[in-house]
Amino acid sequence: MNLPLTLPEPSRTRDNPGPWWRDAVIYQVYVRSFADGNGDGVGDLLGIRTRLPYLRDLGVDALWITPFYASPMADGGYDVADYRAVDPTLGTLGDIDALVREAHALGLRVIVDIVPNHTSDRHAWFREALAAAPGDAARERYMFRDGRGADGELPPNDWESVFGGPAWTRVPDGSWYLHLFAPEQPDLNWHHPEVRAEFLDILAFWLNLGVDGFRIDVAHGMFKEPTLADIGHDRQISLLGTQALPYFDRDEVHEIYRDWRALLDTYPGDRVAVAEAWVPDAARLALYLRPDELHQAFNFHYLGTDWSAPAFRAVVDDSLAAVADVGAPATWVLSNHDVQRHVTRYGGGPLGQARARAAVLLTLALPGSAYLYQGEELGLPEVTDLPDEVLQDPQWERSGHTDRGRDGCRVPIPWDGTEAPFGFGPPGSRQSWLPVPADWQGLSVQAQRGRPDSMLELYREALRLRRALPGLGGGTLRWIDAPDGCLAFERGAEFVCVVNFGDAPVTIPAYGRQLLAGAPLVAAEAGGVLLPADTAVWWERTAE
Ligand code: GLC
Repeated sequence: MNLPLTLPEPSRTRDNPGPWWRDAVIYQVYVRSFADGNGDGVGDLLGIRTRLPYLRDLGVDALWITPFYASPMADGGYDVADYRAVDPTLGTLGDIDALVREAHALGLRVIVDIVPNHTSDRHAWFREALAAAPGDAARERYMFRDGRGADGELPPNDWESVFGGPAWTRVPDGSWYLHLFAPEQPDLNWHHPEVRAEFLDILAFWLNLGVDGFRIDVAHGMFKEPTLADIGHDRQISLLGTQALPYFDRDEVHEIYRDWRALLDTYPGDRVAVAEAWVPDAARLALYLRPDELHQAFNFHYLGTDWSAPAFRAVVDDSLAAVADVGAPATWVLSNHDVQRHVTRYGGGPLGQARARAAVLLTLALPGSAYLYQGEELGLPEVTDLPDEVLQDPQWERSGHTDRGRDGCRVPIPWDGTEAPFGFGPPGSRQSWLPVPADWQGLSVQAQRGRPDSMLELYREALRLRRALPGLGGGTLRWIDAPDGCLAFERGAEFVCVVNFGDAPVTIPAYGRQLLAGAPLVAAEAGGVLLPADTAVWWERTAE
């Protein structure tokens, strides 16, 4: 059933042909860490609702909310026990319904996460499978196999979990089941017709509720090499996203996306699907973006690029070329809930902040769509000194305490006030599921709002200009001459972006009216300007 929907009016002012998602800026909300509406120390749907005006004022087009479904939270909600229910710690179905409506009323679209590679071990199907005998049909929705060795005491093959350790766990009757992530996340058998049908039904459930699309978790997963042959490599995680692996990015997965696209296309309002696909190169990624498959895929090659002009030029060219072949828009992303925050990756401290300012001006000037991760607009760094006892990411335990995991990029957002957790919860609440550093007061929204040199105001102004300028958003890019260590490009006849990746100032021409810069530019000889190290500038080109 397709319900009639009130969709947000396009909020941008520039001439923008084509569907909204082709050049949307989408803000990722990691629900447990964004805003806590009920004061229990965990972010929730109510918290997001109260902060929707903040997102509207920031100037993004949409939000993507990480999983809020019923879950034992073995992996922050990426272990789903019921795909049609909201976890009681995060809210109710009424909350998500209200959130979607309120967001739409503010002109914001809402994308939700879908986790099809695995369920929680508490999902009804897995409980049923465990209760059944080996060989029973109830086990066929998952990947149960006999072990190797005299008594089947060895795992069926040498595959490793992405979180460390073997990808197989033995159940009391001696069978093993596959989990490419935590043991609490058993992999589904996507050859099973019920699995395929169930996920189409889940998508329809959320589409009927009014969501604008899906972020597909582990979109490169689902199908495994059928003989389950050994890989013969004992650090498989190091190959992820760079080399072919027998359990990722198999060609069969594209059949699923053709079915999903057909379903999405029956709904009004340009509903979208974006793939989280860690694949070896931009060409493999483009396969997910063929016209009858998904709309977008995260560009993790861009996220992983070292801070240098040649490296960024190469990744931008490769990314644009790959999507051009399939007619999809490029996407750009610097951070998410699985990677170290980019301020820290780029060197931390003032250097990391300067580069992050340059990086966002570059990112928002590129053709296509951009994803922002909550807190990057505040310049939040990775929190590297969380005490051992608060760590919750399964990577910490699974790695035998060698990998501290991803909690450092999931620390709650500082909103206001003078004491941690800085307004994360309602007035008077002092709890937060991860401690917020005491020195984050100066990074809070309240501290940065209205301060012209703050990261927050840089983002707001960049997003405002991006909406207003006809050259930005969709379209093409043309590289122009730039000094060594810099990149410069035009978007249309009137917009120029120059980025200095080097560690010394360079003289560049004054292209016209300066729109926005990461740091002040000073006049140089012959009518030029001095662009500081690690700085980007946007120009409106005026007639010479
Ligand atoms: C994706 C999610 C990550 C999660 C994993 C398993 O990579 O982004 O947070 O741990 O899938 O679902």
